[in-house]
Amino acid sequence: MPQHYKKHLKYLNGFIQSPRSIGTLIPSSPTLCKAMIAEMDWQQADLKVAELGAGDGVLTKHLLKAMSEDSKLCAYEINPLFFEDLDHIDDARLHVCKISAEKLDQPFNVIFSCLPFLSLPLRVSLKILQSVMKILQKTGGCFVLFQYTQKMERVLSRYFDWERKLVMKNFPPAYVYRCTPKGISS
Ligand SMILES: C[S@@+](CC[C@H](N)C(=O)[O-])C[C@H]1O[C@@H](n2cnc3c(N)ncnc32)[C@H](O)[C@@H]1O
Repeated sequence: MPQHYKKHLKYLNGFIQSPRSIGTLIPSSPTLCKAMIAEMDWQQADLKVAELGAGDGVLTKHLLKAMSEDSKLCAYEINPLFFEDLDHIDDARLHVCKISAEKLDQPFNVIFSCLPFLSLPLRVSLKILQSVMKILQKTGGCFVLFQYTQKMERVLSRYFDWERKLVMKNFPPAYVYRCTPKGISS
């Protein structure tokens, strides 16, 4: 079976087992990953990057390609279905964190999220967004996420100033948000 069908099957299985936590039937498209990467200035050396909801590592690989040699990436994922794929990414800059993004507590310069905030329990989404805001207030960094609808905007506006872009070449089309904690411009 071709590799990309196997990947799609994994997401489909994950969705059947826990639809609210996976939030999608297929991985993000290369166009969506590139649109997220384009939100950051990758010239900076020594960045500490977080990725929330890494799945099978589709965005993780794009991040590693963009990052400098001395930067570090912590990829958070809770579904064991994806652990093997993430463990197979052979890059010393990557640390796979098999814990919930609710436990986020390090001084990251930039945080990427693929989490389905709308379908997660509200308590969990708010806890993660508050942690992201507090971390980035200290480091002066930015938060890049995608969502399939604009329904998160009211909640995002509680914590962040943001800009939005629409990426059509994804299933379904997705909005990419670049956010900075309220009161901090970048
Ligand atoms: C929409 S999928 C994104 C997967 C992949 N990054 C992509 O872009 O295709 C969301 C991922 O978030 C993970 N996830 C859900 N809740 C999480 C949490 N609290 N902490 C870490 N990962 C979580 C799910 O298991 C799933 O792999």
